[in-house]
Amino acid sequence: MSFIGAGPGAADLITLRGARRIAEADVVVWAASLVAPECVTEHARPGAELVDSSQIAHEDVLALYRRAADEGLRIARVHSGDPSLWGAVQEQYDAAEEIGLDVEIVPGVSAFGAAAAVAGRELTIPEVAQSVVLTRLEGGKTPMPPGEKLREFARHGTTMAIFLSAARSAQMVAELRAGGYAEDIPVVVAYRTSWPDELTLRCRLDEVEAVCKRHKLWRHTLFLVGPALGASGTRSHLYHPGHFHTFRKPDKAARQALRAARAASRPAP
Ligand SMILES: C[S@@+](CC[C@H](N)C(=O)[O-])C[C@H]1O[C@@H](n2cnc3c(N)ncnc32)[C@H](O)[C@@H]1O
Repeated sequence: MSFIGAGPGAADLITLRGARRIAEADVVVWAASLVAPECVTEHARPGAELVDSSQIAHEDVLALYRRAADEGLRIARVHSGDPSLWGAVQEQYDAAEEIGLDVEIVPGVSAFGAAAAVAGRELTIPEVAQSVVLTRLEGGKTPMPPGEKLREFARHGTTMAIFLSAARSAQMVAELRAGGYAEDIPVVVAYRTSWPDELTLRCRLDEVEAVCKRHKLWRHTLFLVGPALGASGTRSHLYHPGHFHTFRKPDKAARQALRAARAASRPAP
């Protein structure tokens, strides 16, 4: 049994391994509301049993897994984005192991990477942001564990990728403000990235609520927030001609210039 990350939507953003596992499967289980049909239909073999998981309960899915174990069928369970994030994969993985299936997870492209790509942004810019917080707003059914409130993460001032929060964009903005983000901090609002009707909008923090209202973005939306979304930052040392590593020798003059620049930027003792 393979749990497969389908990527953000477009059928060609699934990994080669994920597509291969779908092609090998006797049964493909997928949520039609979250994964584009082509992701499954383009790769599944003719005659494979296709099951839309959004129409059935967890118990029915488990019954399907049990039948697969009894009949020696191969199952591909397709999840949106990467299965390691908000996919309810763990309970299924544990149950599948208990049933006696041989289980693996095939990673996928998460929505945050896809949204950054469409926006043409790197999320880690030298000396601006070196961390990315993947999080969500507290939901009615999903209280946040202690210490994981949006405002607490916002205090770091780094890049944040905020999932599952578009329906409460006003609350999200209030939390980010409370954590110290300025009104003009750049935000990328990404709706259904890589789907035919995708939307990628850039705005400031104080415009997010209006943008969501104007475009009716309540679901399938990801927010990238933080100074890295608007900054070019300093040059990365890794590709500087004065930097050396196991596979590359430094240029002498560039190395001296790099050292001088580093010494000049060091604070006086
Ligand atoms: C249940 S979570 C699944 C996340 C998924 N496992 C991932 O790695 O991207 C669903 C949320 O992910 C985000 N999301 C997933 N696919 C998206 C897409 N194509 N465009 C924008 N946001 C997306 C939205 O915030 C959505 O509410």
